[in-house]
Amino acid sequence: MEATITLEWVEANLEAHLIQMYKHLHQHPELSTQEVETQAFILRELDRLNIPRKIMATTGVCAEIRGGRPGKTVLLRADIDALPIGEQTGLPYASRKEGVMHACGHDAHTVVGLGVAAALQERAADLAGTVKIMFQPSEEVHPGGATRMIQEGILENPRVDAAIGIHTNPYLPAGKLGLKDGYILANSDRIYISLIGKGGHASAPDQGIDAIAMAGQFLTGLQAIVSRQLSPFDNAVITIGTISGGYTANAIADRVDLAGTVRTLTAETRDRVQAKLESLLQAVAGYWGGTFTHRYERGYPATWNDKAMTDTVRAAAAACFGEDSIIELEHGYMSGDDFAYLAQAVPSVFIEWGTGTEGEESFAWHHPKFRVNLESLKYGVAVTAQSIVGFLEDGVREG
Ligand code: NI
Repeated sequence: MEATITLEWVEANLEAHLIQMYKHLHQHPELSTQEVETQAFILRELDRLNIPRKIMATTGVCAEIRGGRPGKTVLLRADIDALPIGEQTGLPYASRKEGVMHACGHDAHTVVGLGVAAALQERAADLAGTVKIMFQPSEEVHPGGATRMIQEGILENPRVDAAIGIHTNPYLPAGKLGLKDGYILANSDRIYISLIGKGGHASAPDQGIDAIAMAGQFLTGLQAIVSRQLSPFDNAVITIGTISGGYTANAIADRVDLAGTVRTLTAETRDRVQAKLESLLQAVAGYWGGTFTHRYERGYPATWNDKAMTDTVRAAAAACFGEDSIIELEHGYMSGDDFAYLAQAVPSVFIEWGTGTEGEESFAWHHPKFRVNLESLKYGVAVTAQSIVGFLEDGVREG
């Protein structure tokens, strides 16, 4: 018999517990690689549910629900870490840790992982295959916990056929899901640049090499990479977030430091932006007679949503709470996530999960007033659990 999960079942059997778990995790955030209490909380909950689990990547956990019928293996990823941000929501269940906050909603992802575990374990006898739930540490700090869990073998024994990721989205209200085939998240890289000139008196610029003038020309050229060096149908963002240099009003600055980020979708665009950046630095330094140092740090790659997996979620959302719960996104987000490494390994889908509140101002991820609508938890659990069931049943039908 097929194990169906309905929103009504989640409401009646799990919702109160989901809210309670969320409030606890939200009050006790832990930074990347330090998720010790969070891990203990996850282990206690899995033990209470009699779900086999093992510790991975020091502070991570992999739970495994073994179905009573043979079938495929699907992995659900929930990241569990928080950020070095002081919470300003004023909520009664706000963070109790000074300067640390679940400002990206990974506490809600953890709750979805545990809620799905509870819902599927209860139906394990009817489940066709295996479900791995990956409670992953350190998403926020590159190189991230996903790589480590993959290296430690989470995709093997049994071999994982597909993966599902879910992320809070404060701009979509509770009860809605944002879905998109193809690219959903971007390549996320960092750049660190120093332009080096020669100091001197401000009244004799020809005797020095003005690093501030170099920086001005560099920044102007940088803006032309996206507008003039890439196809208008391509997508990229280059942002310089910090700039510093110089000593005083009447001296030539001998050095300017800049740091920023580059976001792209395809590997080709990523390579092209990096190459153009380097040739621009060479050209500017060459013209001024100065020098430069730079570091281009590649972060998480872009995340690709497999069409069949995305259709699995569309079918689950329609079954759980109706067709009009699905918002087809015109474009993805230029943020990055190490879920991308799973999506590179197996067909995957990353769900933009509505956690906003209608009629209330939305605060972005990583904002001190970021918040998750408690109403959204049941939707996240229902659609994710039903997507897993749908994937496994499709696997049985395909043989
Ligand atoms: Ni996040």
